[in-house]
Amino acid sequence: MKVVMIGAGYVGLVSGACFAEFGANVICVDKDEFKINALQQGDIPIYEPGLDDLVSRNVEAGRLNFTVELRQAVENADLVFIAVGTPTRRGDGHADLKYVYAAAEEIATYLKGYTVIVDKSTVPVGTAREVQRIIKKTNPDACFDVASNPEFLREGSAIGDFLRPDRVVLGCESGKAEKLLRELYRPLNLIEAPIHVTNLESAEIIKYASNAFLATKISFINEMSQLCEKVGADVHSVAKGMGLDGRIGKKFLHAGPGYGGSCFPKDTLALIRIAQEHGVSSRIVESVVEVNASQKARMVTKIRSALGGSEADKIIAVLGLTFKPETDDMRDAPSLAILPALIDRGAIIKSHDPEGMEEAKKLLPDSMGFMESVEETIKDADAVVLMTEWNQYRGLDLANVKSLMKGNVFIDLRNVYEKDVMLQHGFEYTCVGR
Ligand SMILES: NC(=O)c1ccc[n+]([C@@H]2O[C@H](COP(=O)([O-])OP(=O)(O)OC[C@H]3O[C@@H](n4cnc5c(N)ncnc54)[C@H](O)[C@@H]3O)[C@@H](O)[C@H]2O)c1
Repeated sequence: MKVVMIGAGYVGLVSGACFAEFGANVICVDKDEFKINALQQGDIPIYEPGLDDLVSRNVEAGRLNFTVELRQAVENADLVFIAVGTPTRRGDGHADLKYVYAAAEEIATYLKGYTVIVDKSTVPVGTAREVQRIIKKTNPDACFDVASNPEFLREGSAIGDFLRPDRVVLGCESGKAEKLLRELYRPLNLIEAPIHVTNLESAEIIKYASNAFLATKISFINEMSQLCEKVGADVHSVAKGMGLDGRIGKKFLHAGPGYGGSCFPKDTLALIRIAQEHGVSSRIVESVVEVNASQKARMVTKIRSALGGSEADKIIAVLGLTFKPETDDMRDAPSLAILPALIDRGAIIKSHDPEGMEEAKKLLPDSMGFMESVEETIKDADAVVLMTEWNQYRGLDLANVKSLMKGNVFIDLRNVYEKDVMLQHGFEYTCVGR
């Protein structure tokens, strides 16, 4: 089976490499020459655990190739996936579909023989039909079907998620297209991964509804964390007690600095706009977005009060900048909202992140320090803020941390440490909802 993946970003590159691992012949096409050159030389442009091995194994086997040339790839393809970005459109919160539509137009010109065009990008309801219309208009003789196959992988565990998914969703209205897609995903039959086939609109909604629901769980527990702090409850224990109920489930009930990343923030906003466009209210999702913004603001206040009411001239050591561990993705990371607010009020920030530093430097104020090691970051700090729970910050040598610091304030925004232990080590310890 010949597969083309348009877009070799977090989703396109992982999906392309995993389809090659399934046995398909995959060509990843990207407009970014720098990215394609790197990939052709065996360099992986993003940090995703296990991706370098997966890519090199499949390149060596001759099943995975990279190019900027769309024509030849598309002419020979059975399936062309669109996995380009759908960022928030500047100013209005809508998903910006310009990359998807441009890709559709480019693909249309080169179609030869029957081909299935598959939307893998997260796109508003109605996009697959618009892609269909664009292709038909650009190339009236093309023989094709359009399908929707939203992606549910999580950065940091993307390969495992793709190779062992909870489900595969196919929005598909032609038997021929469904047969090809089922054939592509056939290796998943072995692990009995459910393939859920539905119409185009339902597949598109499933992706947004799933992300909005997960974001709701996070905002819900973050709201509860505030109440817990006021009444002397422990949000960790509350989440555990809730999560043991099978109807609720324990995942996505960790209180923290608010959700971030390349999906939840933009997808919740886009869902609100989609609902508005169709004259339907989305009050729950609107509240989820509001609670998330206020949770980030609450973290600034929390840090300020832990520092005695003012962060001016205080040295704050920040551990972790990415929106979660095991990725270098900085898109909408809570650090991007929290740290500039502290710097504006005179804080002196030194920071460390195992993989996200290069991206972080582009997005955070130049006045911040980006340090090579945890020790350098912590040295002489008045306070440590644990922003992202990378493994290397979970087992810090607390006595060493304390001796390197000037002050003794430890603000744990991920509830990694136990209060008793921190007090025993002489820290003034603050966390979220406990
Ligand atoms: N990142 C995630 O965790 C994740 C998870 C599930 C779904 N998604 C969705 O998948 C889509 C892609 O996300 P991403 O994080 O991989 O984005 P990304 O920004 O990492 O990658 C997109 C790539 O597409 C390329 N591109 C844009 N237009 C192109 C064109 N016409 N031809 C060839 N290449 C083109 C860009 O150069 C870029 O390399 C988005 O809709 C996103 O919402 C992302």
